[in-house]
Amino acid sequence: MHTFAVARAVHGIEPLVATEIRRSRLGVVRGVRHREVWFEAAPGADLLALRTADDVLLAAAVVDGIGHGRSALRRLALAARSLNAGGLGCPGSGVEVSASFVGRRNYTRFEIEDAVGAELARPLRLPYHSRRDGARPPRDAMSWRVTIEGDRALIALRLADRPLHRRAYKTDSIRGTLHPPVAAAMAALARLGEAGTVLDPCCGAGTTLIEAHALAPGARLLGFDHDPGALRAAAANARAGVGDGAPFGWGLADGGRIPVADASVDRVLVNPPWGRQVPPRGLLARDLGPLWREVRRVLAGDGLAVALVHDGIPRGFAVEEAVRVSLSGQHPVIAVLRKEAGRLRR
Ligand SMILES: C[S@@+](CC[C@H](N)C(=O)[O-])C[C@H]1O[C@@H](n2cnc3c(N)ncnc32)[C@H](O)[C@@H]1O
Repeated sequence: MHTFAVARAVHGIEPLVATEIRRSRLGVVRGVRHREVWFEAAPGADLLALRTADDVLLAAAVVDGIGHGRSALRRLALAARSLNAGGLGCPGSGVEVSASFVGRRNYTRFEIEDAVGAELARPLRLPYHSRRDGARPPRDAMSWRVTIEGDRALIALRLADRPLHRRAYKTDSIRGTLHPPVAAAMAALARLGEAGTVLDPCCGAGTTLIEAHALAPGARLLGFDHDPGALRAAAANARAGVGDGAPFGWGLADGGRIPVADASVDRVLVNPPWGRQVPPRGLLARDLGPLWREVRRVLAGDGLAVALVHDGIPRGFAVEEAVRVSLSGQHPVIAVLRKEAGRLRR
């Protein structure tokens, strides 16, 4: 029998999650909707191995006819009551629910959570832990999600004890560190295949290169940053994720003067400093022009750069693919770039 599963994703990369499900033979994709990919999981598939998804859930109930009015609360509560929550997983110290919906509704997420959570917890004789007033449920609670798009609601159970985006390797962090599933999507778009050398000239805590290692374990991975603290975080994370023998090289350098030879890099993955959260420093303080000139210089003729850009496509590159994503209220683009022929005028 197939398990019906749902992968949750950052908005914009849903099609990349669907591709990963197909390529990794995790199942048959049955539908893509806002921030979700619905699929029939292959028997025995390791769904927790998904890297581009934020989370993976077991679909317990699909409820149609969920309108914008408050009668939706009762319909969802009835659907939750009819589930045998105890038979679906280990309840731990109770039940918690996180709800979200697309569009305006005459109810709040907390009302949905409380209506569904009370019904899921009742047959288990365990407490329901509400998220109202910012309360944090205990870590070992059985974790449910309710999502509504259009008039269709999904009630689903998280398969892992924490969301997939919370990577075990991220033991050290920095401000503005990249969401790992987005880094995984960038690595997938880079078609790492036979890439020999992959570079991140503003590597921060190392997320792009650690995600690249999962797809290209044989590649040499070079990470530079202007901030020694970021490099310490990157090295610690790489050690935690991959161990000491992995092919990473970390170094202190300015992205406007990358210490590698011309045309020696097959792929660049970069999430440049941007805005007030992580301001560009050194040679990039005025603008990112010197970074893009250096990326062009070090990239091999047939190389690709995959960049998360907030301010448009840099000069001197042709766009192969562009994926707009929604991240922390911003809408940057993951751009897959190839060098344009000819010299760039300053
Ligand atoms: C948005 S963060 C990168 C986050 C990283 N992808 C991660 O997952 O942690 C931008 C990084 O650029 C670095 N940076 C700022 N100015 C730089 C410069 N001139 N050269 C190299 N790195 C720079 C910052 O120290 C920061 O680590």
